[in-house]
Amino acid sequence: MSLNTLEDALHEELCDMLSSETQITKALPKMAKAATNPDLKAAFEEHLEQTEGHVERLNKAFKLLGKKPEEKTCEATKGLLKEGASIIEEKADPQVKDALLIAAAQKVEHYEIASYGTVCTWAEQLGLTELKDLLGETLDEEETTDEKLTALAEGGVNADAE
Ligand SMILES: [Fe+2]
Ligand SMILES: [Fe+2]
Repeated sequence: MSLNTLEDALHEELCDMLSSETQITKALPKMAKAATNPDLKAAFEEHLEQTEGHVERLNKAFKLLGKKPEEKTCEATKGLLKEGASIIEEKADPQVKDALLIAAAQKVEHYEIASYGTVCTWAEQLGLTELKDLLGETLDEEETTDEKLTALAEGGVNADAE
């Protein structure tokens, strides 16, 4: 892939994000299973459904760009999810594990927020309004999920872990 224009950069980033979202669809069921707090479990399950939608939106985004969907292994997501997986395997008090799962999940959400923020800004710069709006919907869902995780942590999970 030769990177000569901002549109090339956008395509490159979308290939990274397709890998990222695909990896996350495989990790979220394990996180839901590992969570004890029923609201946290439900939040992971809900975000799994949303994440499947994120993969679909990315596939649409490639179509809008007139490019074939391609995955380029996202090493950052791989690393973040590896940390998440080690928390799942850890022998820990269930409430403490929930607090750790929220921490791991929020690191992933923040990574996604950074990625979607970037591609939305690039799409806007390129005048690709439809693409910007499409990926903006995912950005909103990532931000809402992050806020929801904060609310769960502050609303009882952290106190239970204490
Ligand atoms: Fe996502
Ligand atoms: Fe997400």
